Amino acid sequence: METQLNSSPTSVDTDFNFWQHWYPIAPIEDLDPQRPTPITLLGQHLVVWQPLQSDQYLVFQDQCPHRLAPLSEGRIDEQTGHLMCSYHGWQFDQEGLCTHYSPS
Ligand code: FES
Repeated sequence: METQLNSSPTSVDTDFNFWQHWYPIAPIEDLDPQRPTPITLLGQHLVVWQPLQSDQYLVFQDQCPHRLAPLSEGRIDEQTGHLMCSYHGWQFDQEGLCTHYSPS
């Protein structure tokens, strides 16, 4: 079989958009469904979490909209199954909607 070893592209595709592609983020074995996992992809801080009663992992920005704390430091609430921020207890469902907040 003949292999071309020293081939290189003669031009660079400058239209490549990193934001319009899928990326593997972690082996499933490395994720704990009972706690949020922080990851960084393309310089973005993200959190991977799995709602209770779901078999799908979700990826959100790792930033609480309240005071910008990392959601990866929170937990999955045992009653609602939502992602809970550890700072003031705001909770977010699988759509990212805030389902519980305290006015502080
Ligand atoms: S910073 Fe997340 S609830 Fe306040």
